[in-house]
Amino acid sequence: MKIFENHPLRTLNTFGIEAYARYFAEPASVAELRGVLKDPRFNQARNMILGGGSNLLFTQTKLDYLVLKNNITGIEKVKEDADFVYIRAGAGENWHGLVMHCIGKGYGGIENLSLIPGNVGAGPMQNIGAYGVEFKEVFHELEALHIAEDHIERFNAAQCRFGYRESVFKREARGWYVITSVTLRLRKKPVFNTAYGAIAKELEVMGATELSVASISQAVCNIRRSKLPDPAVIGNAGSFFKNPEVSAETFALLQTGFLGIVGYPLDNGRVKLAAGWLIEQAGWKGRTLGDAGVHKLQALVLVNYGKATGKEIFELSQQVLDSVLEKFGVRLEREVNIV
Ligand code: EPU
Repeated sequence: MKIFENHPLRTLNTFGIEAYARYFAEPASVAELRGVLKDPRFNQARNMILGGGSNLLFTQTKLDYLVLKNNITGIEKVKEDADFVYIRAGAGENWHGLVMHCIGKGYGGIENLSLIPGNVGAGPMQNIGAYGVEFKEVFHELEALHIAEDHIERFNAAQCRFGYRESVFKREARGWYVITSVTLRLRKKPVFNTAYGAIAKELEVMGATELSVASISQAVCNIRRSKLPDPAVIGNAGSFFKNPEVSAETFALLQTGFLGIVGYPLDNGRVKLAAGWLIEQAGWKGRTLGDAGVHKLQALVLVNYGKATGKEIFELSQQVLDSVLEKFGVRLEREVNIV
């Protein structure tokens, strides 16, 4: 397995930030991955595993360690019963490519997750979600290589400890594993989820008379393209912040002070606030700091208009965070991994 030196990472992160890895390798199989992990240049305490680079902000220009890009691919049906098919995909497969593969076969469950940038491994890593569906709803199991012990472990949903954009791999077991494959459980007879208002509206605009996984996927793609910047054109990492949770009492208080504040009641009695609304109301939508900006159509997304550095984008995020805290008393949390 070839290990490169001083390898450029600009095209490997969707923010398009210029950074260099002291060492870089791109294993395309579990065997190659194991080989790299045994190389003396690999240091478990200082390393980085890259997937699609779509939820990441480099704030350092030189990463003085080995960066590993997981390129393990392959999609296969591993089993099937009366209602479900089980599809296993390599963690290095492109997520939207997997969605399109499943839609082509008519399998249901991930159509609402169309066009999310990144690779399959990010699905469980941060329990990706959009338009009323979360990854954990279609997850069956995954395999991951335990780096220190050099063995493959299987995780079911409970073991992954999924939360809102969270899993054990982002928290307790951070840096311990490389996810190698993910198996999804998809429906042969899809159950459609059009509860998210914008989907129903878009289907109407499209004149879609019959619901199908393909029509819902198309609606989701249309909505995303109308609101979210395409990372191939303008560097970004999707939502930069999470939508914060507050108590019902706090929400009631905020409603009296701020007309039109957007919140969604949760099962636990708390309320999830739309961070995009808070950021827009704090006056940030469309603003720039050099080449770093708050997107003009979706204030939750920070963008790189060209030559922004990771430090500049981080600084902009800090100013946004401070001003939302000052205006609403609500502390935003970054969703993107800062390296
Ligand atoms: N809003 C504003 N101004 C804005 C942006 C949003 O007022 O600039 C308001 C909207 O009017 C709406 C509410 O905020 O009432 C929610 O907006 P939207 O439907 O666009 O979703 P979001 O909460 O901002 C979340 C996810 C997205 C996901 C969408 C759709 C998070 C952090 N983000 O955004 O996920 O695509 O819902 O389900 O949960 C991502 O994680 O990278 C991501 C893009």
